[in-house]
Amino acid sequence: MANNKRPETMERITTPALARVFIDEQITALREQIGDRKVLLALSGGVDSSVVAALLIKAVGKQLVCVHVNHGLLRQGEPEQVVEVFRNQMDANLIYVDAVDRFLDKLAGVSDPETKRKIIGKEFIDVFAEEAKKLEGIDFLAQGTIYPDILESDGVKAHHNVGGLPEDLQFELVEPVKFLYKDEVRVVGKELGLPDNMVYRQPFPGPGLGVRCVGAITRDRLEALRASDAILREEFAKNGLEGKVWQYFTVVPDFKSTGIDHGKRTFDWPVIIRAVNSVDATAATIEEIPYPLLHHITWRITHEVPGVNRVLYDLTPKPTGTIEWE
Ligand code: XMP
Repeated sequence: MANNKRPETMERITTPALARVFIDEQITALREQIGDRKVLLALSGGVDSSVVAALLIKAVGKQLVCVHVNHGLLRQGEPEQVVEVFRNQMDANLIYVDAVDRFLDKLAGVSDPETKRKIIGKEFIDVFAEEAKKLEGIDFLAQGTIYPDILESDGVKAHHNVGGLPEDLQFELVEPVKFLYKDEVRVVGKELGLPDNMVYRQPFPGPGLGVRCVGAITRDRLEALRASDAILREEFAKNGLEGKVWQYFTVVPDFKSTGIDHGKRTFDWPVIIRAVNSVDATAATIEEIPYPLLHHITWRITHEVPGVNRVLYDLTPKPTGTIEWE
């Protein structure tokens, strides 16, 4: 039975110096555990799996095999950044799997939120297991489990909606950050040289944009969602709200409304902006975005994103609204 309790003597990692000590200790421990064998890691590009990847690259280099599954529900620029940072800059062994069509075909016509989540979770496991089966001589599976995952859900990253691998693909686990809290993972990530937008990124749900493209996902609405989210993030970064607001994103519902453009009637989708502050996601308050900025974002979204003619701002705290729309 794995030891799943953070040692009481373990100091909280709050400074670069403490992060360096942690990194050195982990490199030694990982080399001892892994020896000359191979480790597999599902690398989403989120902070936890990215920090695990960077630690393992330092410890065992090419004995680590990272698999990045692009399920088509990532934010603009994310799959490209994973390839750029890990393959090009860190020289990692990275398998990039373009599974966009596969996921979107499975999700076509499915409107129930929980069914969508299940499809995304199952498909992810299937794609990852298929890649794992193609590889020879893997002995370990690395995971970005962090301490809150252990405290909240018996050590499984349950909120990622990813169940376990099939019976014939059971590996010994490698979980170098399992005793760290999120803020500590970020300090370690920064010290490992990961880019700030990877280290300080806002929470992003496992099913990704899938739960923000309300109802049955269509490719054109998904693109409107991705483009409007990119504009919101760009404007928040430019206006000092990145890092200040806990979570912010856009939502595209599955209904249209009438509008007018160059004297012609349009019938297009609205985009809903959500920007909330929270400590642990159980409750949330609304960020008071300055009106001039809201006007500017509205102008950009309605002029730059095809198929969108209206922007709404969701003023609902949690409760009564959940943070995500589905
Ligand atoms: P809600 O919408 O329940 O969200 O207020 C609370 C936090 O959890 C995230 N979230 C998810 N994360 N898989 C995840 O990994 C999910 O299915 C999921 N649903 C919501 C949400 O983004 C927020 O941070």
